[in-house]
Formats: sequence, structure tokens, C-alpha cells
Amino acid sequence: MDTTISANSAIYLQLEEKYGAHNYHPLPVVLEKGEGVFLYDVDGKRYFDFLSGYSAVNQGHCHPAIINSLVEQAKQLTLTSRAFHNNLLGKYEQFITQYFGYDKVLPMNTGVEGGETAIKLARRWAYAIKGIEENKAKIIFAEGNFWGRTLAAISTSSDPSSYHNFGPFMPGFELVPYNDTIALEKAFQDQNVCAFMVEPIQGEAGVVLPDDGYLTKVRELCTKYNVLFIADEIQTGLARTGKMLACDHENVRPDILILGKALSGGVLPISAVLADDYIMLNIRPGEHGSTYGGNPLACAVAITALEVLKEEKMTENASAMGVLLRDELTKLQSPFIKIIRGKGLLNAIVINHSNPDASWDLCLALKERGLLAKPTHGDKIRFAPPLLITKEQILECVAIIADALNTLKS
Ligand SMILES: Cc1ncc(COP(=O)(O)O)c(C=O)c1O
Repeated sequence: MDTTISANSAIYLQLEEKYGAHNYHPLPVVLEKGEGVFLYDVDGKRYFDFLSGYSAVNQGHCHPAIINSLVEQAKQLTLTSRAFHNNLLGKYEQFITQYFGYDKVLPMNTGVEGGETAIKLARRWAYAIKGIEENKAKIIFAEGNFWGRTLAAISTSSDPSSYHNFGPFMPGFELVPYNDTIALEKAFQDQNVCAFMVEPIQGEAGVVLPDDGYLTKVRELCTKYNVLFIADEIQTGLARTGKMLACDHENVRPDILILGKALSGGVLPISAVLADDYIMLNIRPGEHGSTYGGNPLACAVAITALEVLKEEKMTENASAMGVLLRDELTKLQSPFIKIIRGKGLLNAIVINHSNPDASWDLCLALKERGLLAKPTHGDKIRFAPPLLITKEQILECVAIIADALNTLKS
């Protein structure tokens, strides 16, 4: 499908093509401004953002309170490294541990570093506490997982486009099918298993929801077999699914909780790993860290980003608007939509079309009509707007989606 690219936009596309590595395939739109649920391109055209920076911008683009914290703190102090103390780290640590109910937090930057940290904590606990023989610890992951692009992360991937020709891979990881507690229990028979790391809903896989009760059963099995339950809530957390954490839908408490993305409202890379003392205190000074982890700028931003979620009742709105979005999409009865699924405002449609490019074409048609979304794994399109979207805006977006679907030919 052809799409209009302005002469102005073309300049930016050419620069990226010539000077940047070709490790992404973005939609041909060049953005220069964001405000709430909207993005604006270099020609001033407005779009609804239905990706929210892969759920990093839950609080909406350039949220005034978050930006204010960023600017005020940036004028004061941005980085000390952890060689010295700073006046915000302890305050942030107290705030986030009380917010989520854990003894301790370990601050990092990107989501994938959060995952790496959780794995190191689990391995250390395995040797120091569980009594697993050194270098024998195993961690179980679910097929279809996505937690980033480092060598450890791709070593757990079942997606060839993530791992092909990047080996050799990290040992000590095993896969079981997602949403399969029988396979999980079988894997737990191995005494060397120390942790199971899982997304409560698989985001990048295309918003794949497990059966109700899956997380409860995972919790039960982890307790029974003395295996740590690591929840990767980097995409599902922070009000996105209509609860503060997706695990809250089943009132389940993971042993290690990983947060990222919306922890900064899309302003800075900020991630956090939360756990209780019996896990966290096995890592001692000099054994793990990061130059930027826990920097004062990040601490100030994260506190405000978390405050805003509660003050503006974003869980409640995500829950209500998610129901509305799925109901209205269902009413369209489009022959081109095979499945509509999601929780809160983490949703996806699966496209039903003989043309493998249909979902890309649909995203181009949506772009033309002022809505930005991106296919994942071919036939799936995520619909995940910022959490402050209103009822009127949802209805306007569904009308845009209906109109764009009409451009697909059978
Ligand atoms: C569930 C999950 N975990 C981890 C990550 C990695 O986060 P980052 O890209 O900030 O490293 C992602 C990124 O999409 C994710 O969706």
C-alpha cells in the first residue's frame, strides 16, 4: 500500500536510512511533539498514540507534573554515581518499596537490565540460600517471552529473529510453554531450578493472555518447590492492564518484581527490581550496579510518575476504557479481525487476511487517518493508548479503525 510521505518527513527518513543502523522498521511518520494521548509529526499533523512507546508513556506524553520534576531536578543535580550518596535515592527507595510492599529495591535503567538483575538475584539466592551447587542453577522461562535484546535475554527467546546467528548462548535457562502449569510442575522436579521468570500477559508476543488462575497456580507451584517467582511487569505493570500490577488481578505476590518503561512516564530509562531482604541482601557491595542506576534525576522522575498514576486514577480509567474499546471493536463485526483480546488498555487485534502484509497496510491506513499503531509478529496489532484517554476519544479512535479496515480488500 502507498502512503503519503511529505517532503519534509522524507528528509528525516533519509538521514536515518543513511546514518543509522537498520535494526528497526518504523512506520514512515516523523514525530516532533507529544501531549497527553496525542503525537504530532513534523508537518503538524495530529495522531492518537495507540502504542504509548511500548507502554512506557502510560501517564501520557510530556505529563506536566513529570516534566516539572525532571526540569526542577535537572537544575539541581543529575548524577553522582553510586560512589557517593545523594539526597533523593533513599527517599525514592522508601517511596517505591512502600508503594509495592517489598523490603528493598535495586534501581537500574533499562528494562532488560532489570531482567538481568532479577536473574543475578535468583542465581545468588540459589547458591547462598537454596543450596544449589555452584554454576548449576537453572531458571525457567515461558515460550514466547520477550524481555529485551541482551545476550541473556535472547538466550531465553523462542523467536528466531531475536536469536538467530547471535550464539553462543547463555546456559542455565530452560523453556516451558506459556500458560501450561503441568509442564511447569514437571520442570520444577529438577532440584537445580531456582526461579521462573514470566510476563503476566505476554506483551511483545501480541498481548497473549493466560487462562484465569494461571498466576495463582504459578505462585502455588513456586512456593511448593521453593522456586522464586519473578514477574516481569515491565510492560504489564503500572496501571496498564487496569490494576497497578497485572499480578493484582489474581492477588498474587511475586518474589521478585521487575518494573521499567512507565516508571518514568517515558521520560528517562528507569527500571527497578523489588524483592524482600532474604533475596536482596545476598548481593553485597561491588557485586552489581550501574553508573546511572538510582541517579537523582531518575529518583525525582520516578516518584512523580508513580504519584500521577494514583492521583489521576489511571488504573480505574484503563480498566473502564479497555472494556469500552474491546466492546466497540467487537461491534464492528469486521471480517478482517479474527481476535480482539486484552486487559485494561493493553489490547491487540489479530488480523484475518490472506495478504501477509495486511496488518502493516492497516497501520498505514490508520496513520493516514490520524492513529498510530504498529504490527507485532505479523498479524497482530497492539492497541495500547496512554491511560488518560477519554470515552469520546475511544469512540473517535474506533471510528478511525472502522474506516481504515474498509481499505482492506478481501
Ligand atoms: C515484558 C518486557 N520486559 C522487558 C523489556 C525490555 O525493556 P527495555 O527495552 O527497556 O530494555 C520489554 C520491552 O519491550 C518488555 O516488554
